[in-house]
Amino acid sequence: MTTKPIGMFPDQQPEQLDQCRRCMLWEAATQAVPGIGPHRAPLMMVGEQPGDQEDLQGKPFVGPAGALLDNALREAGVKRSQVYVTNAVKHFKWEPRGKRRMHKTPAQREVDACHYWIERELAEHDPRVIVALGATALKSVLQKSTVKLQASMGEAIEHDGRLVIATFHPSYALRAPDAETRDSAFRAIVEALRQAHRLIDKHSK
Ligand code: URA
Repeated sequence: MTTKPIGMFPDQQPEQLDQCRRCMLWEAATQAVPGIGPHRAPLMMVGEQPGDQEDLQGKPFVGPAGALLDNALREAGVKRSQVYVTNAVKHFKWEPRGKRRMHKTPAQREVDACHYWIERELAEHDPRVIVALGATALKSVLQKSTVKLQASMGEAIEHDGRLVIATFHPSYALRAPDAETRDSAFRAIVEALRQAHRLIDKHSK
């Protein structure tokens, strides 16, 4: 296995995602998980970080949160094959609990370190509309660590010539303690996707 030392000067950092050493998360992860979707898709969805399944399979949103997202996309009438799907952080951050690897929220410095890759994806695909799934994604996309998810939902936020729509992370709709909260979170995700779809039509170049 090739390893590159961390602590390199930023301009000496690897250009290949699977070689990234911008933070330490690579060490405990199986692999970096790149975004996936068609080149220059008008809609980009950004999640937080890969989960257990995504880490193993090397693709974003292929585990339980991905299944919920697929349902939401179906209800909103958006085809996943037309969306570029990625994460704010590209390596799975976890801690052991018994035999399981439990998700750990990435630290702001890890989100910041990984922003290099989101920038590259934005430059390459140039989406019109971005759906930020959860607070970590929203902070990363807007480059503002103080932004609040709840206060940002429901409006399309103009940022760097694109529109950003914030909604809940699918894991919240999956794991909230009561059925009513889970259902209303799911509805909010569907509505955010519908809104994104409408905006793409309106703002297509
Ligand atoms: N949660 C995320 O934020 N991203 C994934 O890819 C999977 C789960």
